[in-house]
Amino acid sequence: MQASAVAHANIALVKYWGKRDALLNLPAVGSISMTLKDLFTQTRVEFREKLTKDELILNGQPAEELATARVSRFLDIIRRKAGISRFATVESFNNFPTGAGLASSASGFAALALAGTAAANLDLSPRELSILARQGSGSAARSVFGGFVEMKKGESTDGSDAFAVQLYDENYWQLDMLILVTSEAPKAIGSTEGMTLTAKTSPYYSAWVQSSADDLEKMRQALAAKDFEQVGEISEFSCLKMHGLAISAQPGILYWNGVTVDLIHEVRRLRSQGTPAYVTIDAGPQVKVLTLPEYSGALVNRFISFPGVQSIIHTTVGPSARLADGNKRVSD
Ligand code: DP6
Repeated sequence: MQASAVAHANIALVKYWGKRDALLNLPAVGSISMTLKDLFTQTRVEFREKLTKDELILNGQPAEELATARVSRFLDIIRRKAGISRFATVESFNNFPTGAGLASSASGFAALALAGTAAANLDLSPRELSILARQGSGSAARSVFGGFVEMKKGESTDGSDAFAVQLYDENYWQLDMLILVTSEAPKAIGSTEGMTLTAKTSPYYSAWVQSSADDLEKMRQALAAKDFEQVGEISEFSCLKMHGLAISAQPGILYWNGVTVDLIHEVRRLRSQGTPAYVTIDAGPQVKVLTLPEYSGALVNRFISFPGVQSIIHTTVGPSARLADGNKRVSD
């Protein structure tokens, strides 16, 4: 009763922020993301007879109680589905900094969903896997798939239509992403908590929810046309709108540091001089720069010595989640 799986991180080009149901983790808005080739989580799950509780080993160290409890609740869903009662040892390895706004919960819960169900001898369809991963983390529903992925917010109260679908696989269009790391410290407020506070207190929340369908439609069209300028414009707009929303919560949620702001200005300056580059930022201070492959070398050179940039991860579009010990891949 054991299996290993690999799932890649993703970055939303049209952002998810807010839930229509916290218990089932149903998003209030749809989202569109790009799966990332060089950032992944590998997770091994083994259901064992002798254990008295679930164990989580994260990057070689026993995990904190809170993280273990979240994984344990997720394993409960798998145990219920499979009709088993054994506890599990979960060993998970991220090849990138955990908890710094680099979406470790996305790749983490996608890998856990795949490895956990395989270890429990459940054979789920990609859609079922995405629905399951969503219950661990909303963005994890997207990391089940490679390429360009859309998360459907769904309408039903049971969550059966809130899943991700692959729009295009990783060979459709090579876009590059530079992740400019400005701090590796854990973020002050996690996305789950941040979303709850925003929905409860921001006067802009309903406008955010209402305006999202339009962003999604424009992004679908831009991807279909491989229109880089449009993809970039909508991504940057959705990102700034999401952060503007979070800042308008009470107390305001500000994920940026000074370097984050300097980098936004610099990317916009370079763009005004003809470099196709756009910014997107998640629930943390790292700046992700979306660009075309022929420009990434010059951009890396520009940012490697930029004051406050600690490191750069240069990546491109990545593949679907897969079992590590077999060739099975998830495809819709
Ligand atoms: C800013 O998926 O981490 O990265 O569903 O509560 O686990 P939970 O939230 P999570 O939120 C991701 C927020 C975001 C935007 C995005 O990835 O769409």
